Amino acid sequence: MNELDALVEGAREAFAQAATPAELENAKALFLGKSGRITDLMKGMAALSVDEKKTRGAAINQTKQAVEAALTARRQALAEAELDLQLKAEALDVTLPGRQRGQGGLHPVSLTLERIEAIFGSMGFEVAEGPEIESDWFNFTALNTPEDHPARSMHDTFYVEGGSAQAPNLLRTHTSPMQIRHAVQHVKRHRAAIDSGAGMPEIRVIAPGRTYRVDSDATHSPMFHQCEGLWIGENVSFKDLKYVFTDFCRTFFESDDLVLRFRPSFFPFTEPSAEIDIQFQSGPLAGRWLEVAGSGQVHPNVVRNMGLDPERYIGFAFGMGPDRLTMLRYGVNDLRLFFDGDIRFLKQFR
Ligand code: PHE
Repeated sequence: MNELDALVEGAREAFAQAATPAELENAKALFLGKSGRITDLMKGMAALSVDEKKTRGAAINQTKQAVEAALTARRQALAEAELDLQLKAEALDVTLPGRQRGQGGLHPVSLTLERIEAIFGSMGFEVAEGPEIESDWFNFTALNTPEDHPARSMHDTFYVEGGSAQAPNLLRTHTSPMQIRHAVQHVKRHRAAIDSGAGMPEIRVIAPGRTYRVDSDATHSPMFHQCEGLWIGENVSFKDLKYVFTDFCRTFFESDDLVLRFRPSFFPFTEPSAEIDIQFQSGPLAGRWLEVAGSGQVHPNVVRNMGLDPERYIGFAFGMGPDRLTMLRYGVNDLRLFFDGDIRFLKQFR
């Protein structure tokens, strides 16, 4: 091997040993730099004759080109190695399952409440909400419920500390106090028209919400839901109640194959009163009477407590159980499932 071939070989080795671009630049300087080996060879030609310069020059040039080619090759190899490393570090496994975003949904009872609001909304009823901590007056007295009524006992009603008969002192046992609260507001707004004899626009309202009773088993929960309905006007009768409630049930259960029964009953705040039962004519519940609401014509004493003359204003009220409606609609057999908060149960209604 002549001296020039040895130089090229040496350069290849030096370049190969450079592990980084910076090391490679240092190695390059040894051969191609201002005081590198190739430059030295050029300088050494000064003393040669013209002919010798030709052959020597050509040979040195070839050597230089070979060194440069070795340098370029090594540069590329290093760049590729670096890219490989980077790709490996940022490797993405496209076969991994995606990360899921938890998707929430409404509680089944909330779905029912929304449904009730939509159906009664389409029949011209507005939606009102009221306090869950109530006073004796709105929960019992204004609703014509006597002092000695058993519903007032501690066995049935949760009382709160520090209240009085007028101030909040109990957890409402039904949504019926909303009959009074809403009607009083309505009457206040239309007082002048009522007194002038022109009359007020009808009261047509539903009031959904939470209610509380001292009661707990598979079909009773100390906290449960009710939805009150109230329709007061000058010409509202029991047949309107029958029509509206029948229409509601058929829409709610998406079935015309359903009959209603108004079973005589008693509530202090309605007279006459009726329990409303429904019966499906087909499906798993066919043939059984199922109680879904209490109802009746609003008692004259209650109409009076609304600030209206019972000789002129008349109407009906109902109170239904959205929890029960939800159980019937979805075929759920234990009320407590709604309030346990078990995500496996709730997920099914999403
Ligand atoms: N508030 C009654 C109950 O909780 C239901 C009802 C409401 C009955 C309105 C008549 C009229 O049982």
